[in-house]
Amino acid sequence: MTGEGLRGYLEYLQDLGIYDLYRTPGPTDPELGALLLSVLAEKTRAASAPVTSGPNEPAHPFSSPLAAKAKPETSKGMPASTLPPRSINPFTTNSALVESAEPGADSAGPPVTATMAPLSFNHRAPLPEVSVEASQKAAVLQSLPAEIGDCTRCPLAYAGRHSIVFADGDPNARLMFVGEGPGADEDASGLPFVGKAGQLLNNMISAMGLKREQVYIANVVMCRPPKNRAPEPVEANTCSQFLLRQIDVVQPKVIVALGSTAATYLLGVKQSLAALRGQWHDVRGARCAVTYHPAYLLRDPKMKGEAWKDLQRVMTELKLRPGTQS
Ligand code: URA
Repeated sequence: MTGEGLRGYLEYLQDLGIYDLYRTPGPTDPELGALLLSVLAEKTRAASAPVTSGPNEPAHPFSSPLAAKAKPETSKGMPASTLPPRSINPFTTNSALVESAEPGADSAGPPVTATMAPLSFNHRAPLPEVSVEASQKAAVLQSLPAEIGDCTRCPLAYAGRHSIVFADGDPNARLMFVGEGPGADEDASGLPFVGKAGQLLNNMISAMGLKREQVYIANVVMCRPPKNRAPEPVEANTCSQFLLRQIDVVQPKVIVALGSTAATYLLGVKQSLAALRGQWHDVRGARCAVTYHPAYLLRDPKMKGEAWKDLQRVMTELKLRPGTQS
């Protein structure tokens, strides 16, 4: 890492106002320096990660969308062909600022090191005393984007977003998926998980015997982080107040945290996915399972079998049968 690179990144963060935000609670300059170094180290590690893909996929019922002949699904009237072209394999250069393929692509490893601790959703606010009536959930959720407005609560507002990507799906869903944050396709369309990772998520949902419209899909942050980097803690902790509100309205029985960013912020712990998978966590009264992010599965299809094991536990919990879309 060169001094010039560090200075450039510092200026970039200052342009976004992050310097001031991190100073607000009174951290000292060495803490800011440690944060910058950890962010740079994370980016360097991600950019130099080997590409691991190959034909050795274990048994699982969701096929790779990259292999699919059919045209990619369109998002609510927007033909996929109008979306910006994406690079399928951007990990071939060693540039620290190379764009990740999709948000979440790096999120099977340990979560980012950062100086601001994640706050568990269970500790951020008391559980609602009264549930929103099933017939009112859609209206309550529809009122949230107006409350969010043309949001400038965190630096992502100034990082080139085109849309604030709220959520998609059934306000009365029993199952909620939480991802990391919008990528280019989501930023262009205004809907979560409509790019390649979204196509794989659709396949995973249908393998579970459900349609996409029967689940609720949201992200930790609603604005696209530049270069598809993972959200910074101040961004995730700021934006996820609205994810918390959505969870409290929908009150799903099961939440699936897709990748390490979702797991870190929902659970308020920084642990590897390996440590968090295979057990039930409590998130605002819902049972929460942790699995790999679809973008990571696109990079390492060998792990699809492991993800399918996680989804099978969810299916047992929800009494779902594979492939039966009711
Ligand atoms: N990855 C995410 O985490 N969320 C999206 O909406 C799309 C890709």
